[in-house]
This record gives sequence, structure tokens and C-alpha cells, in this order.
Amino acid sequence: MPSTFATRSAVTNADGGSAARFATERAFAFRNVIGTSSSIRDAVKLATRVAAARRTTVLLIGETGTGKELFARGIHYSSEAAADPFVAINCAAIPENLLESELFGHERGAFTGADARKQGLLELAAAGTLFLDEVHHLPPALQPKLLRALESRQVRRLGGFEEIAINCRIIAAAGPLLEQVVATGEFREDLYYRLNVFSIVLPPLRDRLEDIDVIARHFLAQETREHQQPKAFSPDAIAALRVHRWPGNVRELKNVIERAAILSAETPVIRAEHLMIQRRVMRSGPNEESVGEIRIPPGGKLLAEIEREAVALTLKLTNGNQAAAARLLGISRPTLAKKMPPRTPRSDSEHS
Ligand SMILES: Nc1ncnc2c1ncn2[C@@H]1O[C@H](COP(=O)(O)OP(=O)(O)O)[C@@H](O)[C@H]1O
Ligand SMILES: [Mg+2]
Repeated sequence: MPSTFATRSAVTNADGGSAARFATERAFAFRNVIGTSSSIRDAVKLATRVAAARRTTVLLIGETGTGKELFARGIHYSSEAAADPFVAINCAAIPENLLESELFGHERGAFTGADARKQGLLELAAAGTLFLDEVHHLPPALQPKLLRALESRQVRRLGGFEEIAINCRIIAAAGPLLEQVVATGEFREDLYYRLNVFSIVLPPLRDRLEDIDVIARHFLAQETREHQQPKAFSPDAIAALRVHRWPGNVRELKNVIERAAILSAETPVIRAEHLMIQRRVMRSGPNEESVGEIRIPPGGKLLAEIEREAVALTLKLTNGNQAAAARLLGISRPTLAKKMPPRTPRSDSEHS
């Protein structure tokens, strides 16, 4: 049997601390969510609404690093249950036999090594929140048990007979492939519907170009507050941030900024090379990192027209910054100007 350490490291329990800590968490519940895109603002609106419905199960869907746990905590700490425990467990990180007793608990003697009774997290979350992270990895054998617990609002510990009432709210998180896992039968459809009472989709960072700037500046300010040296991004750094695909989403962005702050120690300007993402961008294939695509109709298209579209798309990427766009296209700025579409819309959030 794996050590209990492995189990505990996957379970973050007992946020319940001092009243002061609780008050702070509550006040900041959704203030930690940075971003101006309509998709992230809509997600916060939905989360705020559902936070008020104390028992409603929530399903958070998004790629890794899109803020699922941040939202789960936001919902908990802005709800009436804020003073009750927030308990998180990662369904992918714990072996099946341990996961079962973590969730449902066990009686003494339920299995070899069960030398004491143990309460499950569904019980321990009390009137608070149980966050089931990576719920799509919940082993098939445990899925009907969780469904039963959600429907009857009762659990029986392993090896026990007593029905124990559960009062917590369940917030589940899954990757965008969840529906596919349901379609293949690996995840029970009935449990999926039971969890999917109120779902909130957190879009990938690459689809929220305006958030990339805002979040990057936020993290940069955080980094430099500690080091007492204000820093800014150069236009080519902003362009590089916008063109990157961000498979690790906001978590990856945070790490990139932290590293860039260190690498740019001697200068107040973070340039593209400090981000160390340029190389990966260059190597990526077509369609991987893009703000749009150029289509050639069956009747063909004039090269000049294709160039104009390419310039317009690149300018979109650089937020209207012509110097950065010229650099990305490998041409001079005057050449770029000549190839610019008659009236290129200019974003209002970035000026060169
Ligand atoms: N919109 C956002 N604003 C600020 N920080 C964010 C945002 N989304 C995610 N983060 C941060 O990114 C990291 C990963 O978020 P997390 O909630 O753990 O993602 P997930 O659970 O989806 O993998 C955390 O440090 C989190 O605080
Ligand atoms: Mg997570």
C-alpha cells in the first residue's frame, strides 16, 4: 500500500483558519481573477451567481492552468459556506483503493491495514465545499458510488452500515475532453448529468488575447513589487506573448513572467528573448499559433491581397504595433506601411 504521504500531498485540506484569514479570503474571492475579456468576466458573473446557491453542484471545465481551482475557491469564499472547510482532492493523483477511502471513509477493519475508523472527505467537508479536481479520472468503480452520494446526500463508509448525511457542496473540475470521455463510456453519463447542473467553461488563454496582456502585466507588477524595480514589456515581448500557444495557460504565463523578471535583472524592459518562448513559437507548425488564417478561394487570390491580409493579421497579433509587426514579418516598417490595408483598425489598449 502506498504511503499515506502520497495521499496527503494530493489532498489540500483544512483551509479553515482564523476569522481574519477567512474575512480576507472572502473579500478577495474573485478579485484574484484577472482579465478583461468578456469570456472571463462572464465566467465570474456565473460563478458569483452560483456561489449564492449554496448547495448547487458546479462543474468547471477548462484546460490545465485556466483557473479552475481559482474559481472553485472563489465560489467557496464568496458563498455563505466561506467559514466552513474548503477541501480539495485530485482524482487523478491518488490510487483507486486509497481514493475510495479518502472520499467515503472507512470503518476499522474494513480492509487489511484499516486499523482505525476514518472519515471520508465528503463527511469532512461538512457544510463547506468539496473540490473534486480532474473528476474525469474518477475510476469507473467509484463513479456509481459518487452518484449515489450526490443523489441521496448520504454516504456509507467502507465496511460500514451507517448512513451519514453529507452537507457539502461539490465543485468538480475537468478538462475540455470530458464530453468525449462520456461519449466513450469511460465516464458515466448519469454522473456527468448530475455534476453538470451548473457548468462554467474557462476558455484557454490563447483565445483571450486581451487577457494575456493584462495578466502578464499583473504578474510582472507582482514580481517587481518584491524586487523594487518597476519593469515594462517591449512591444516585441507583447507580440511574443500573444503569438504563443500557452498549453499551460495562466500557470505557464506566470512561470514565464517570473523567469523573465529574473533574466532581465539588469534592465527595466522585458524583451522577447527574456521570455524564452520565441524559439518554440518559431518551431511550431502552421495553424498552431495564430490569430486567424488566410484562405485562398478556388478562383485564386492576388498576392498583394494575401499580403494585405497577412499584415492585418500580424497587426492584430501585435495589438496595432507596427514596429513589432514588421519585425515578425521580416520587413522594414516603411514596407509594412505600404502593405497595410487602407484603414487598419487599431486596438485601443496598446500604443507604440
Ligand atoms: N484569470 C486569472 N487571473 C489571475 N490568476 C490566474 C487566473 N487564472 C489562473 N490563474 C493562476 O494560474 C495558476 C493556475 O490556476 P489554477 O486555478 O490552479 O488552474 P487549473 O485548476 O485550471 O489548473 C494559479 O496560480 C492561479 O492563481
Ligand atoms: Mg488544477
